[in-house]
Amino acid sequence: MSKQPIGIFDSGVGGTSIWREINNLLPNENTIYLADSANAPYGLKTKEAITNLSIKNVEHLIKQDCKLIVVACNTATTNAISLLRDQFSIPIIGIEPAIKPAALNTQTKAIGILATKGTLSSELFHKTTDLFASNIKVVERIGEGIVELIESGQLQSEAMRSVLKRYLQPMIDVNIDYLVLGCTHYPYLMPLLIELLPNHVKIIDSGQAVARQTKVILEKHDLLNSTVAKGDYQFFTNGKTEVLASLLDNKFDVEYLNF
Ligand code: DGL
Repeated sequence: MSKQPIGIFDSGVGGTSIWREINNLLPNENTIYLADSANAPYGLKTKEAITNLSIKNVEHLIKQDCKLIVVACNTATTNAISLLRDQFSIPIIGIEPAIKPAALNTQTKAIGILATKGTLSSELFHKTTDLFASNIKVVERIGEGIVELIESGQLQSEAMRSVLKRYLQPMIDVNIDYLVLGCTHYPYLMPLLIELLPNHVKIIDSGQAVARQTKVILEKHDLLNSTVAKGDYQFFTNGKTEVLASLLDNKFDVEYLNF
């Protein structure tokens, strides 16, 4: 049972930022990663469409005998996680923007959140923001076009630099000291973000927290892989294999799969 893989999915290549954290913490776990790039971006779709795509991905991973699912996508989590948990009996872990630590630690009483339209308009996101950030300034910004640029291999492009500049300026104007990355594609923007933001702004995401939670839940269900050998890591995409491979530093084989 414990040798079964952990299944991880995202609307595309961004969830590899979460796979990296899980793999750092639990290198001996077998993993299967699904990039639903043919359907990216999820962020512009309806809640119903996001839910249906998420169900399709989970069903595929369960068919591959996964013991636990990580929804490595803020948009899918904030729109579909409760339905997924209702529908499937295996443990499902999601990811949400790290509003709580930013809101608790801000000194300037202003934080920025960059996420997809689907995440920022979700009920779950509003609940969390109301709960933890009602007494500070929260500058929300839809990262329009960012996922598309990353999915088409234009991570380090002039186009990326110019959209980021535009999205960050209103946050810089109100002196944020935390920027919350509310989309799993965005950790790959780190070098550009560091360059464009004032030095005092801390950039946070939920990747490590998700990896820790994955470990806790595996332990709780007695599902941790006890082997000391390195895991077997499989990567599948229904989009461009070379984009997924490049975000994995071309260290792993990536297979095209029509799922
Ligand atoms: N990585 C997804 C997320 O965390 C991107 C969503 C999209 O495809 O728009 O929200």
